[in-house]
Amino acid sequence: MAEMTPYRFCGISANDTWLLRAGVLWPEKEPGPSCHLPSDSRHDTFHYGVLSAEEVVSIGSFVREDHPELPTLKHYRLRAMATHKNHRQQGAGRMLLEGAIKALSDQGCTLVWADARHVALGFYARLNWDVVGPTYQVPLRGPHRLVWRRI
Ligand SMILES: CC(C)(COP(=O)(O)OP(=O)(O)OC[C@H]1O[C@@H](n2cnc3c(N)ncnc32)[C@H](O)[C@@H]1OP(=O)(O)O)[C@@H](O)C(=O)NCCC(=O)NCCS
Repeated sequence: MAEMTPYRFCGISANDTWLLRAGVLWPEKEPGPSCHLPSDSRHDTFHYGVLSAEEVVSIGSFVREDHPELPTLKHYRLRAMATHKNHRQQGAGRMLLEGAIKALSDQGCTLVWADARHVALGFYARLNWDVVGPTYQVPLRGPHRLVWRRI
């Protein structure tokens, strides 16, 4: 029997990410156009969401961007990954990344990477992303490390 989950993975629009980007990741911003990233509207950027009862509870955006220190493959960079605080530790983030990786693989992508916050490193490691290199500071956001995996 298929596992029961309240969550559903789907593609979303850039604007659908604004509430969680502001609410979880960028608390100094209002959930509106200030949450827009220049890469959001590129034709080859993909925004994914996990929905619960039509509410977006987890988000991640994937941008076609090569990382110079990683193997020469077709890279996508994950930006602004977040799960609503009331929905954490319930598999929404896993569904987001697993669904996105399958969809990106269908687009020919063979490697995903991200600048990951220290607080999220355990999450990426759990999903078999490699955590590599030194810690670096991102202004306003704190310590980060590079995470990546082949797909
Ligand atoms: C990191 C984050 C996206 C994880 O989302 P989530 O929906 O809670 O993740 P899931 O419930 O799908 O977790 C998947 C697995 O990772 C584990 N996990 C989740 N967060 C973890 C963490 N911070 N450290 C270690 N393991 C973690 C879960 O226990 C689960 O393990 P399991 O499959 O064995 O049960 C979420 O905590 C979040 O939004 N944090 C604040 C914003 C943030 O840091 N975003 C990342 C920016 S790089």
